[in-house]
Amino acid sequence: MRTPLIAGNWKMHMTGTAAAELVAELLETELNTGAQVLICPPFTALAAVAEVLEDAPVHLGAQNMHWEEQGAYTGEISPAMLVDAGCEYVILGHSERRQLFGETDEGVARKAAAAFAHHLIPVICCGETEAQRDAGETAAHIRSQVTAAVRGLRAADAAQAVIAYEPIWAIGTGKTATTEQAQEVCRLIREVLAEVQNEEVAQAVRILYGGSVKPANIAALMAQPDIDGALVGGASLTAADFAGIVNYGEEA
Ligand code: 13P
Repeated sequence: MRTPLIAGNWKMHMTGTAAAELVAELLETELNTGAQVLICPPFTALAAVAEVLEDAPVHLGAQNMHWEEQGAYTGEISPAMLVDAGCEYVILGHSERRQLFGETDEGVARKAAAAFAHHLIPVICCGETEAQRDAGETAAHIRSQVTAAVRGLRAADAAQAVIAYEPIWAIGTGKTATTEQAQEVCRLIREVLAEVQNEEVAQAVRILYGGSVKPANIAALMAQPDIDGALVGGASLTAADFAGIVNYGEEA
């Protein structure tokens, strides 16, 4: 059985002080113990959040990292630095990084391998643009992004990976993919994992949906057989909304 995972991607929001306050507020809320909870603050807030979390059952992740161990890479953060800051997870290849900062499939694959080398679990993102969806290219695009990211991984590592399907047209737009659209692509991702790795890996990998996830739409998404959780942007910046998503079982 795959443990559900609800992850918050705070993007470029929150100073260390504001982040610590938000996490403290979140921890005061009763959280559904059935789902694993992950928050991914910006780099500069990681230490402050780690301190508030202590032994709380909330996991910490970063939003990006470089694949190299160390060196002359001004402005970059290494896997070991994230581990040192208390991270267990790292989001890789978010569409904002691909579209705005030139990240490539090849770079994402290198980062995923580097994450596992440091015992970090990557949350590998994929997703199509509206133009690609309209042109009927969604399946081919997702297939190629997922294949590139996982084909070089050892099966034992790949089985632990998390894949997030985030249709770009649904991010921050209030337009959520229908549950059928989300399920269809998440199922395709599982098929690709079975082809590129093996069936055992495909059944083990947690696949998240992301894009305008809210307390009101999470239950229907979680009811889909191939959706194991959510990657939440805007709604993860408010403790009540994020707790409402984590506690999706109580919404129905
Ligand atoms: P929103 O939830 O704000 O649409 O963002 C989704 C996202 O990009 C999470 O990584």
